Amino acid sequence: MQKVISLAALTLALAVAGNAAAAELTPEEQILTRQAGYSFMSWNMGKIKANLEGDFSQQQVAAAADAIAGIANSGMGALYGPGTAKDIGDVKTRVKPELFTEQEEVGKVARNFIQAANSMAEAAAMAEGKGDVKDAFTKLGESCKACHDKFRKD
Ligand code: HEC
Repeated sequence: MQKVISLAALTLALAVAGNAAAAELTPEEQILTRQAGYSFMSWNMGKIKANLEGDFSQQQVAAAADAIAGIANSGMGALYGPGTAKDIGDVKTRVKPELFTEQEEVGKVARNFIQAANSMAEAAAMAEGKGDVKDAFTKLGESCKACHDKFRKD
């Protein structure tokens, strides 16, 4: 019995250690991971746009909006750690240096974005047609652009 307990404790300890290790990304991995997050949001924005321009599937729009909100609420700020402001060899970044210095402004655009993503997910969950998500989608797109205009290079 003693052995079983200690094995379970060891397994738990390993799992926790594994999680901590996975959360600690190298600067290169942080850049690639944040770019992957943005690209994945962009793909989902495209799906919503296609639904607004063509046949509307509430299920598809809600799934895409949930995916975007999930990323928005995931704490992406953690992927802008030390050493990630500039290209690292082949790993290029388009982040502007201002993102690391204008904390207050970054916080403002980030909060607007999270709020817009949550509103979009709420609207999509209840949507009966395009008209129910149009405004929320426009606002969400504007919140992406607001950050790019200030903190992303062309
Ligand atoms: C808080 C600021 C911020 C918000 C909000 C934001 N982005 Fe970005 N985005 C950036 C920055 C900074 C980069 C450049 C990242 C890099 O190259 O390291 C970027 C890069 C991208 C890229 C290029 C990814 C790549 O592979 O290089 C896409 C696509 C993108 N964003 C789409 C979006 C979409 C869609 C939204 C909204 C749903 C959004 N972004 C919201 C700051 C933001």
